[in-house]
Amino acid sequence: MDTNAATTVTLLTGPALAAQVDVLALTTFGDPSKDPVFKSADHALGGHLAEVAKHESFEGKTGQLISIYTHGKLPAKRVVVVGAGPRADFTNANLRDVTAAVAQTANKINASSVAFVLPALGGGREATLVQMAVEGLHLGSYKFGRYMTGEDHKKPASLKTLQLATDAKGKKLTAAQARQVEAAIQRGTVIAQAVNAARDLINEPAAVATPAHIAAQAQAIAKKHKGALSVTVLDAKKCADLGMGMFLAVGQGSEQEPRFVHMTYKPAKKPKKKVCFIGKGVTFDSGGYSLKPSASMEDMKIDMSGAAAVISAMDAIATLGSENEIHVVSALCENLVSGRAYKLGDVLKSMDGTTVEINNTDAEGRLTLGDAITYARQKIAPDEMFDFATLTGACMVALGPYTAGVFSDNEPLVKNWLAIAEKTGEDMWRLPLNPRLREQLKSPIADMRNTGDRYGGAITAGLFLKAFAKDTPWVHVDIAGPASTSSNRPSQPKGGTGFAVATIVEYATARR
Ligand code: BES
Ligand code: MN
Ligand code: ZN
Repeated sequence: MDTNAATTVTLLTGPALAAQVDVLALTTFGDPSKDPVFKSADHALGGHLAEVAKHESFEGKTGQLISIYTHGKLPAKRVVVVGAGPRADFTNANLRDVTAAVAQTANKINASSVAFVLPALGGGREATLVQMAVEGLHLGSYKFGRYMTGEDHKKPASLKTLQLATDAKGKKLTAAQARQVEAAIQRGTVIAQAVNAARDLINEPAAVATPAHIAAQAQAIAKKHKGALSVTVLDAKKCADLGMGMFLAVGQGSEQEPRFVHMTYKPAKKPKKKVCFIGKGVTFDSGGYSLKPSASMEDMKIDMSGAAAVISAMDAIATLGSENEIHVVSALCENLVSGRAYKLGDVLKSMDGTTVEINNTDAEGRLTLGDAITYARQKIAPDEMFDFATLTGACMVALGPYTAGVFSDNEPLVKNWLAIAEKTGEDMWRLPLNPRLREQLKSPIADMRNTGDRYGGAITAGLFLKAFAKDTPWVHVDIAGPASTSSNRPSQPKGGTGFAVATIVEYATARR
């Protein structure tokens, strides 16, 4: 839930130091005494701001923050200064953490109005900075509190208005610039809402976020955008008719019936291209008979983060509009143990006819995705397809917990994708699909087996998927690390992060 969902964001007109607000917030890149806005605020406060900065060793480093009362020396009741680190290292996306910290501070001190002076970075970055500022506001106000019974968790956030100043002195924007800023505010709001919706789905316990529950969410989103968005939900019987032997095998040990979701967005005009986003939707991954130890299973409700990302992103795409035809596909099921569960040694027949010997029931994601990819190829025939999956622990071993692994053998497609990810500030790093490792997936009794050796585990998973993607332009994004986090960051509280939503939406709605 976004506790600041109702906060209105507007453009501040007039000089920032004259703003009559509860909090006047600004940033400094390193040494505050070199910042003109800081200096003028300090001057108005009779040197008090610099004094506090010195006392609290505020050096404008990332994550540092000071908050002081103005005693009527400024129309604003308080001044909050947030460190933004060295200017050279600062990306637009870093602003999310700054405004997230400002919003959190404002809510902590019960402030209802904030004026925030955007850092003066020039170069026509204003509209993007505005978008990031708005995203940070909503991302930083996210809280999954629905199971907390204390009163505190029901209290609405105090922050009601956020005014953004693109220029501290209040220089007027041209009409065209003002329109750009307005669009950026909307864009930031819509994207952050989609990220927070994905977080809600991820954080929801697996007992609630079942395949049927997630499919119903997709249906609710389609209903909201009637005309532009449609959805088809297939039950187990329909999936069996389509021959999805791998997907159905993974889900057959659970009492929860699997669901296959296909959402379609059609633009008003003839689409430029057809893009398909596929999300791994294992609503709980026990590992199956290759059972996970308890500690590794504890967080496995997050194994549907890919599904949450693509479905939530579609809501934002339909709101913002795209020149492209966009498809979202997810094979939703639960990987459990029971008398009906699939077993090691089983041979499964996939939707495209390939047979697969199971040597590890915990490598289930690639089985569900393999059939989802075949569905996309056969039923949609997209120009481009992307999959998002909490697929391998090996990817986290390789890249750490904050970076997604990106795999593709289509150079232009993967370069475009990574360029958008760079802009949205979502950490993604390409890893090779080394064909020599295909050897590891050979089976003595079937066309393939589902797992290779320990070394290169993220790559063999990618190669397994490639066998189904065939020659359709395709990018695989392993989000096992960044899908959820155990460390707090202003724009990213603990739990599901909604990783990939921002890049999916930006990619799908980019104009060219
Ligand atoms: N869902 C897991 C991967 C995962 C691990 C996601 C940690 C998020 C955090 C996936 O289904 C899995 O179990 N993968 C196995 C593959 C192995 C059996 C080849 C793994 O990584 O251990
Ligand atoms: Mn698994
Ligand atoms: Zn899994």
